[in-house]
Amino acid sequence: MRKPGKIARPKGKLGILTPGIGAVSTTFMAGVDLVRNGGALPVGSLTQMGTIRLGKRTDKRTPKIQDFVPLANLDDLVFGGWDLFPDTAHEAAAKAGVLDANHLRKVEPFLSKIKPMKAAFDQSYVKNLHGEHVKRAKNKFDLAEQLREDIRNFKKSTKVDRTVMVWCASTEIFLKPDKAHETLPSFERAMKENHEAIAPSMLYAYAAIQEGVPFANGAPNLTAELPALVELAHKKHVPICGKDFKTGQTLMKTILSPGFKARMLGLHGWFSTNILGNRDGEVLDDPGSFKTKEESKLGALEYILQPKLYPELYGDFYHKVRINYYPPRGDNKEGWDNIDIFGWLGYPMQIKVDFLCRDSILAAPIVLDLVLFLDLAQRAGMHGIQEWLSFYFKSPMCAPELYPEHDLFIQLMKLKNTLRWMMGEQLITHLGTEYYD
Ligand SMILES: NC(=O)c1ccc[n+]([C@@H]2O[C@H](COP(=O)([O-])OP(=O)(O)OC[C@H]3O[C@@H](n4cnc5c(N)ncnc54)[C@H](O)[C@@H]3O)[C@@H](O)[C@H]2O)c1
Repeated sequence: MRKPGKIARPKGKLGILTPGIGAVSTTFMAGVDLVRNGGALPVGSLTQMGTIRLGKRTDKRTPKIQDFVPLANLDDLVFGGWDLFPDTAHEAAAKAGVLDANHLRKVEPFLSKIKPMKAAFDQSYVKNLHGEHVKRAKNKFDLAEQLREDIRNFKKSTKVDRTVMVWCASTEIFLKPDKAHETLPSFERAMKENHEAIAPSMLYAYAAIQEGVPFANGAPNLTAELPALVELAHKKHVPICGKDFKTGQTLMKTILSPGFKARMLGLHGWFSTNILGNRDGEVLDDPGSFKTKEESKLGALEYILQPKLYPELYGDFYHKVRINYYPPRGDNKEGWDNIDIFGWLGYPMQIKVDFLCRDSILAAPIVLDLVLFLDLAQRAGMHGIQEWLSFYFKSPMCAPELYPEHDLFIQLMKLKNTLRWMMGEQLITHLGTEYYD
């Protein structure tokens, strides 16, 4: 990839479109509003709170990331989206039950104005949902055309300068790559023939890319991870990334397992179980949607621990992930991990993690960072898969000949080095011999 020349400044407004006005997207929108009004801190957001070291440690140059790269300002963000329920973002936020009454009251004037557009939805792909606020069309291609028109109308009515789309809608059933996904002509033909390999999320991704809108996929669905859409993204100069926001249990897994590997501690087994009671949990109660999530959650350990390179340590570990829908907890998930490790001379040890987390509170800052970084990438002329944004995903998209990088610390280094590279700063290798010359 060529190093960006001059990066265009972020002038005007930045539109954000989310398929799905549910727990994650409304928590994200509400948070931006509260932060803008001085009522909260953007905790968890690297773009808002993170710093980046430049040059040598002795140079003492550590600006905030937002002062180093030209990111859009929070005051310039404008929101819109789609859902199969007609609730305003405020009603959806109230139903999601993430925010307390005080926060809900404060954001009401802002969120009440955000009304979802009709969804491109098909219940065959999300079995446990049934909504009436949906588009009618003669075929899937026509549905995608309607989404493209929605995007154009959103841009016109809000007068935004640029737009980014982040999939914050439900997890669809597990789909395997299909011949129909291979090229743009085969993909478009399949849309016209209502082929079952084309899920609604793919129509949103297609519409976004066709309209020059960067696209991130927050769910584990295949969505934009198709040769046809990657090809289209290059053709249209659109950056894309995914899949599945890295929050909760997988975040913990990708924090802990690099540590075990760094110290050459072995692993016999890792049993993970979750209880959650939000709409996401209800959707994941369907085996088809669960399978998509399970594949996404299982991958990380295999890639981080590299069993082929370390057969004695990781060649034979048992890994199980369970998700149980348990309504009383709402969005406040509980994730248990039992980890059986072994050390010197093979002596076994156990680690127990009980993470009482708040799913959407962890996901909201990820949405914000993805929006700002994708917009930056587009202004820098970067397109296709943005692997440097792997930091935010459970199943990072990468070039077909590569394995995905899951280690959170390598991902962070990659992200920061990409920012340095974009801005013409020296990359940081952490070698540091020069301090001892
Ligand atoms: N919260 C997290 O920590 C987290 C982490 C990783 C991934 N995710 C994923 O993010 C997504 C959103 O999570 P959530 O908790 O906000 O779920 P949610 O159920 O609260 O919201 C999803 C919304 O999407 C809508 N929807 C479904 N299909 C649609 C379509 N085709 N078009 C438009 N709208 C559609 C649903 O009606 C619902 O309102 C899920 O796929 C979830 O698996 C969430």
